[in-house]
Amino acid sequence: MLRLQHIQAFQFKNHFSTQQGFAKKVVGICGPNGAGKTNLLDAIYYLCFTKSYFTHADGPLVHTGTAGFRLSGRFAYPATEATVTCILRENGKKECSWNDELYSRNSLHVGRLPAVMIAPDDVELIIGGSETRRRLVDGLLCQLDAQYLQQLMEHNKLLQQRNSQLKQMAEAGRRADALLEVLTEQLAERATLLAHRRHQLLKVFLPAATNHYKLIAGPHEQVQLSYQAAVPDGTTASQLVAHWQQQLGKDLALQRTSSGIHRDDLALQLDGQAFKQIASQGQRKSLLFALKLTEYEWLQQHKGFAPLLLLDDVFEKLDHQRMHNLLREVCVEKPGQVFITDTHRDRLERQLTAIAADYEILELQG
Ligand SMILES: Nc1ncnc2c1ncn2[C@@H]1O[C@H](COP(=O)(O)OP(=O)(O)OP(=O)(O)O)[C@@H](O)[C@H]1O
Ligand SMILES: [Mg+2]
Repeated sequence: MLRLQHIQAFQFKNHFSTQQGFAKKVVGICGPNGAGKTNLLDAIYYLCFTKSYFTHADGPLVHTGTAGFRLSGRFAYPATEATVTCILRENGKKECSWNDELYSRNSLHVGRLPAVMIAPDDVELIIGGSETRRRLVDGLLCQLDAQYLQQLMEHNKLLQQRNSQLKQMAEAGRRADALLEVLTEQLAERATLLAHRRHQLLKVFLPAATNHYKLIAGPHEQVQLSYQAAVPDGTTASQLVAHWQQQLGKDLALQRTSSGIHRDDLALQLDGQAFKQIASQGQRKSLLFALKLTEYEWLQQHKGFAPLLLLDDVFEKLDHQRMHNLLREVCVEKPGQVFITDTHRDRLERQLTAIAADYEILELQG
């Protein structure tokens, strides 16, 4: 089973120099506002993904007034152990290693230590733009399949290049262009492969997420989740090229590629209406958990062991019954290690004791 046994954080956000060992399946991280609870979860996330959950850039992660940071974690891995180290050098260069072996590309690390984070702002997944939902789907597929990550990076770069080519053509008043043709073909190859993987995943993932919602919320609320695919399953690269040729006039006018997998979305409905319009805050949060727990199970199934679960401030907005259902599910039923933050130690201990979880509490000072 994947377990984080020990972490060291040096000059990472407010953790100037923190060392901590973990022995139990459930780790409660308590302390007042601003104590560094979320930052510690983010340090764990960083060790799994070589990036922060909350910001794209590494700069803001460096402890104010210092240069560079160092994170190191010892993970008990099924049948082995690994020490993962991520260093941001003073010159901004990032170096990540696995048992002292430096990665040639940090993306090679993604997926080796699967983890699922659930943070308060994640409710954007339900109420925010489609990009947040594509990120969920892509994040999951990237952890399962290094090729997907590679193809996605290539796709995104080609899409940018195609868009800037469209812009140049529109400005020059050109309607045909050899480079655009090449970019369109290469983009279509990536897009159809990625679309196929998304279709494969979501056919199984969305029904499973619907079941998870029932587990948390009870049987009376009907959620309908569906994949709004911009590229139908089975579309070939040449069909997509032909489609983009038909769309060329529109794309030149807009100066961007107006259709493709970068426009995919998930439709989320409650009792036949858009979730973001009618669901209460607790219902939104329940759906968020349902999606994330499905991600968790999917990773567990495909990796052969449970991912780490990082729960930041999950107590807000859930009623007692939903909270109880959820905590039992993740802290007792699920086999993986869980890190869970709360400002109220008493409340957390009471909840964890009530479900007979195997837990320890780490108290951070404000
Ligand atoms: N780069 C940085 N250098 C130093 N301190 C930082 C840096 N980035 C964030 N902080 C500090 O970290 C603290 C926030 O930590 P964190 O978000 O982990 O708190 P928390 O314990 O989760 O609090 P809450 O209960 O409010 O969620 C803030 O006081 C912030 O000023
Ligand atoms: Mg916090």
